[in-house]
Parts: sequence; structure tokens; C-alpha cells
Amino acid sequence: MNTQNQTVLILDFGGQYSHLIARRVRELRVYCEVYPSGRVLAAIEATKPVGIILTGGPNSVYEPGAPLIPAEVFERGIPVLGICYGAQLMAHVLGGRAAATGQREYGQTETRFDPDSPLFAGLPETGVTWMSHGVSIQGLPTGFRGAASTQSTSYAAIENPQKKLYGLQFHPEVSHTQNGLEMLRRFLYDICPCVGDWHMGDYAERTVAEMRAKIGDGKVLLALSGGVDSSVCAALLSKAVGRQLTCIFVDHGLLRKDEGDEVEAAFRDWDIRLIRVNAEARFLARLSGQTEPEAKRKIIGEEFIRVFEEEAKKIGSVDFLAQGTIYPDVIESGAGNAAVIKSHHNTGGLPDHVDFKEIVEPLRLLFKDEVRRLGVALGLDDSLVWRQPFPGPGLAIRVIGDLTAEKLDMLREADAIFRAELALAGLDRDIHQYFAVLTSLRSVGVMGDERTYDYTLALRGVTTTDFMTADFARIPYDVLARASGRIVGEVPHINRIVYDITSKPPATIEWE
Ligand code: XMP
Repeated sequence: MNTQNQTVLILDFGGQYSHLIARRVRELRVYCEVYPSGRVLAAIEATKPVGIILTGGPNSVYEPGAPLIPAEVFERGIPVLGICYGAQLMAHVLGGRAAATGQREYGQTETRFDPDSPLFAGLPETGVTWMSHGVSIQGLPTGFRGAASTQSTSYAAIENPQKKLYGLQFHPEVSHTQNGLEMLRRFLYDICPCVGDWHMGDYAERTVAEMRAKIGDGKVLLALSGGVDSSVCAALLSKAVGRQLTCIFVDHGLLRKDEGDEVEAAFRDWDIRLIRVNAEARFLARLSGQTEPEAKRKIIGEEFIRVFEEEAKKIGSVDFLAQGTIYPDVIESGAGNAAVIKSHHNTGGLPDHVDFKEIVEPLRLLFKDEVRRLGVALGLDDSLVWRQPFPGPGLAIRVIGDLTAEKLDMLREADAIFRAELALAGLDRDIHQYFAVLTSLRSVGVMGDERTYDYTLALRGVTTTDFMTADFARIPYDVLARASGRIVGEVPHINRIVYDITSKPPATIEWE
């Protein structure tokens, strides 16, 4: 039990948004724990919750084998919010009726809210909610009333305010639901009521203590890339177990200008053992003559593991292999019930020849912005915490076609100038990702009185919230002009600069 903070218990029925609910609750400064639905009474005992949230799930509540909970959960005076399956379950268990509609309600749905409901009072009486269900509540349990409706149901929300029981057929945690976060806030603050006593520093402290207990005096190994996730993971484990942690930083020579040294410098004062392996020559030799982006990615991934294994072998057996996996990776790689969305984004995979007993993933339940806040709470350097996403294969995929040390140097210089100019213009926090790409196109130019036949460099800048979709950044022309002038003047063999004005989709953020 968490004795420092009020706790909200989230009972997980296997819904795809269960951890998004947890994230929203944390965003509202309330501590929460997610438990599997089968252990409800033990979970209540363990967490002494001020409120319970029942998540969505893939089952139909009236079918044999659907996960149910005892009615007494609703009789303890603890406020309960059921979402989607959780709402149907609440109706079903308390003597109402939930049944298949024969028509699936999916996506953004016009909804009318009852202004007398404590969850909706003072909000617009109609709005869009996000629905995803084929079962709906068709009969209310005693003491309940309908609190929202759509074209196909009068019970898009149900409530029994005396008993502090609420059910929403839609998903307030999803950003497509207008005022969804406000509805959650009202459940937490007006109904439970929570005081908002939780912040990321608590999470850091708790996770450090958990890791310390789990690792004991064992040895831990971590592949540090200098990206946000592995850096925060290193910082956390350093606080937990200090020099029992060894970080191997494989510098594949495909990082941006000075980045390898920056990573090393950022961890100089931390209590860890840091091994930096300068493997540029090795990677370049393996990549020589390769032009196809997938082939480059594959080679880099394999070589990375090989170098890591060789270093690990020198250390000998370890007890734990740490990974900076974050929640979107868990979802994207298809863990649990979620479908595989993409598999290409991580360089590594697991090494076959490292002798370890167990994996630890202290960031597994966090979303990216939470990882950054955790990094801040741990005192990690700003330059690491606010680092832009950077592909594992690094600049190898930003040099189109065949890769050489000279081309990498050109790209590194040009990219550094572009970054410096954006920082000078004060645009570096507003544009979420920006970089240079060395294309394989060469064309005629004129410099002084000389004819040149040199490379075209592309500049890319995007604004985005999730990197799944993105718009090209409207960088002022004079900033582009300064960057272009400096790059052509200072970097040999680049004689033409273009700015990418496509969004994603239809383009992607990277060129490769
Ligand atoms: P795309 O090009 O698919 O990229 O629009 C979306 C975002 O993902 C980043 N990216 C990667 N991140 N490992 C990563 O950790 C990778 O292999 C990788 N490839 C692309 C890309 O920079 C953009 O932010």
C-alpha cells in the first residue's frame, strides 16, 4: 500500500486504453495502480483506494467466461467509474441489463449530456465522444438513471450519485472525447474526492526503491544510446544501485556532431560504470556499398548487438539486463493483447549471447512525456531530457544511398549549422524535430567563377504531437536563408539546399 498518496485503483479488463487511463489519472496528479480484474478484493485490500476505475475490455459481459466482479465491490462506499466494458459490467452485476445491439458504435459520436450530472454540469450539453463497443446498457439497475445519450442509446452514461457509482459507455481518456479529461477530473476531485497529492518526484522515489529491492546486490547491464529512454533508465538505476550498473554505450559513429562526447559528458558525474565503445570504423566497413535503407538498418541492428555482446562478455555474467522500454513500445511490439503496429523502430532486439537472469524495464508503464518529466525529476541534464527522437540507425538513414565517412562528415556539419541557426532564431523548442538529409542527387552550380558539380542537401522540420502524423514547420524564409547560405559557404561539396514541404502522411518524417 502507498501510505504517502491517495490511491486510485484501476481494474484492468484487457482494454486497449487501460494504461492510457492510468496516464490520464497521473496527469491529473493522482497516484494510481493498475491491477488485473481477477484480483479485485485483494487489490482493494492492498491499495485502500479512494476510488476505483473499471476499464474497457474485449469481452461481452453477458457471455459465459466474461470477467465479472462481486456486487459487494459496489457496496463499500468507494466511488466507482466504469468505462465501456466497465460500465456494462456495473449495470450487469447490479441487476440491470447489457446486451448486444447488433450494431457496433465506433468512433466519434455525437452525444447529449444531462447538465444535472456531477460529471457533466456546466459543460456543453452536446459534444463528441469516442465510442468503441457492440454491447450497450439496455436496462438500468435500481437507483440509477441515464446521464447521457446518443442516437442509438439512452444510456451513454449512467449514474447513481447517492452511491457514487458512474458508468460511461464512451472513453473519456481518449483525446477525441471532448472534455474527457475534465470528466475524469470531476470523478477524481469532486466525487472521490482526491486532493492531487502526487507528482513525478514520487514516482522516481518509488521506482528507485522498487528497483533497489528487486536488484539487491546483483549486477545490471544497460545499453545506453544517449536517447531519452535509455538515459532516463540509466539515471534511475544509478540512483537505485550505483556502480552495480554498467552502461555500455556503443558509439556507432552515426550520431550527430559531438553527440557521442555529449552523452559521455552528461553521465560523467553519475554513479555508474560507463563503457564507451568507439566502433565507427567497424560499422562503416560493414555498411560499405549498401544503398538500400532496410539493408542498412538490418546491418546496424546486427552489428550493434554483436559489439554489445563482445563488451558484455568481458564483464561476465550479470543478474539483470535493463531496457528503457516505454509503454508505446510495449503496445507497438504487440505485447499483451494489442496488435502489432510497427516493428522497425528499435535498433536492438535482445542479445543472444549475454548471460543474464532477468530483464528489468523500469519505464515500461510510462509514456514519452512522462519519461521526460521523470528525467527532470531525477536531475538529468536538459540536453538529454529534451533530445529529439533520433533513429537508432542514426545518420546512416539520413545519407541517401551509399554511405562513406566523407558523406557522414558533410551531413554532420550541415546538420549542426541548421540546428544552430534554429536555436539562434529561438525556434528549437517549437519545431519538434528538425534535421538535414544528404541526398544522392548531384547537380551543377557555380561558386566564384568555378563550375561545381556537388550534392543537394535537404532540410526537414516538422511539428507534431505524436510523430505518427506531422506537418512541415513553417520556418521563416530568412532563417532558412541564413542556414542555406552558411551551409553552402562552410561545407564543401554541397551546392544546393532544398526545404521539405510535405507533411506526414503522405510523406514520412525521415527520408530513407
Ligand atoms: P517516420 O520517418 O516513420 O518516423 O515518420 C517517425 C519518428 O520515428 C523516428 N524514427 C525512429 N526512432 N528508432 C527510433 O527510436 C528508429 O529506428 C527510428 N526510425 C525513425 C523518426 O525520427 C521520427 O521521429
